[in-house]
Amino acid sequence: MGIDRRALLKRAGLLAGTGALAGLTGCEPGRGAGSAAVMPTDAPGGWAGVRARFDLDPGKRHFAAFVLASHPRPVADAIQRHRDGLQTDPDGYLEAHGRRLDRAARAAAAGYLGADPDGIAFTRSTTDGLGLLYGGLRLRPGQEVVTTEHDFYATHEALRLRAERTGAAVRRVALYDDPAAVSVDGLVAAARRGIGPRTRVLALTWVHSGTGVKLPLREITAAVAELNRDRDPRDRVLVCVDAVHALGVEPAEVGDLGCDFLVAGCHKWLFGPRGTGLVWGRDAAWEQVTGTVPSFDRRAIGAWIGGRAPDGSGSRSSSLPRAALFEPGGFHAFEHRWALAEAFAFQRELGKAAVAERTRALATRLKDGLAAIPSVRLVTPRAPELSAGIVCLDVGDLSPDDAAAALRRQGILASVSPYASPHLRLGPSIVTSEADVDAALSAIAALA
Ligand SMILES: Cc1ncc(COP(=O)(O)O)c(C=O)c1O
Repeated sequence: MGIDRRALLKRAGLLAGTGALAGLTGCEPGRGAGSAAVMPTDAPGGWAGVRARFDLDPGKRHFAAFVLASHPRPVADAIQRHRDGLQTDPDGYLEAHGRRLDRAARAAAAGYLGADPDGIAFTRSTTDGLGLLYGGLRLRPGQEVVTTEHDFYATHEALRLRAERTGAAVRRVALYDDPAAVSVDGLVAAARRGIGPRTRVLALTWVHSGTGVKLPLREITAAVAELNRDRDPRDRVLVCVDAVHALGVEPAEVGDLGCDFLVAGCHKWLFGPRGTGLVWGRDAAWEQVTGTVPSFDRRAIGAWIGGRAPDGSGSRSSSLPRAALFEPGGFHAFEHRWALAEAFAFQRELGKAAVAERTRALATRLKDGLAAIPSVRLVTPRAPELSAGIVCLDVGDLSPDDAAAALRRQGILASVSPYASPHLRLGPSIVTSEADVDAALSAIAALA
């Protein structure tokens, strides 16, 4: 590199004062990170203590930890406990503990989301949830689904399969050309323009994993609500959101977002058990979707045994929530599903606001540093209102794969976004520190 890397980093405020100190001391709670204050967690040992509760290789800097979670100690312990019980006496353990553990996991998810437990269906992943949701939404003849160019394969493919099965009309719209230059007003206006008179479903992704753009979800759902006011209830636009890169990053309560369905895996930013996910829906919205995989809810099976329809049709006594009918049944990797209770408890122990602030502060530090490196093109917006934990960038003429490989050789683990226009992607999180960010910046500056 033809420039003084140290001078550059210094210009970005990374080698000066508290920045370097905070990095060296491994993220002291409450210390400044760039211009952003890092909210402390009450967890023992602060953020360094949090990091120590993961088995992640201590010799590496884990900026790809959000792709697939490592389990923190309480989650790993719970999985092991349930696995031991199931290994010894699978049916007995399930009979003795299954209902209680399922209820506990559901209550923990509801507490974390600020939702009613009956509004939540567990799945195995985001992809699972999107496939079931977009496969099961009721559409009347002539109604269409609108999605965007920026959604991940899982949304596009779920909708393509839906169209193939039922002939449903699906349309894609672009919300932006240059991700780094998006604005709240521009995104809201583009989403609003994308909705036509026949649109019944707006399928969005909250945080785009190909660019790092975070949609202003509340503003978009407010615009949709305004538009819905003049529509027949059967034609109102339902807003469905892939929130996998927001769950465990954004602290909002789900009911405040204004969307109808929220779909996420719990095994990314939330650091929950691998192979777990959920779909949350508003009460009224659940009426608009049918299940695909038979539910194993006891009430549904009981109704079937009694010769009644599992959904309560033809009976006045059934109160089976529709989310329970939607939740795919069959026996699962129960040890993972039940450990969701510990995963949500872990996040709440750290503090939702503290985790959000920590992620934001580290991402801001990273973006500020990247913006000062001439060979770097930052793809993700710098404003925290328009970005979350994912930071996408290009480095000179290097391919993202080559850049990621070069970083990996130095123990800096990044990922490459799996899209038609790939980018190098780093995700600062609760398992990275200021020192990790600074090391990544030095290594990236030396790449091109
Ligand atoms: C936006 C988005 N949605 C969904 C997925 C898939 O998540 P899951 O593994 O939970 O299906 C990914 C990436 O893996 C993603 O980036």
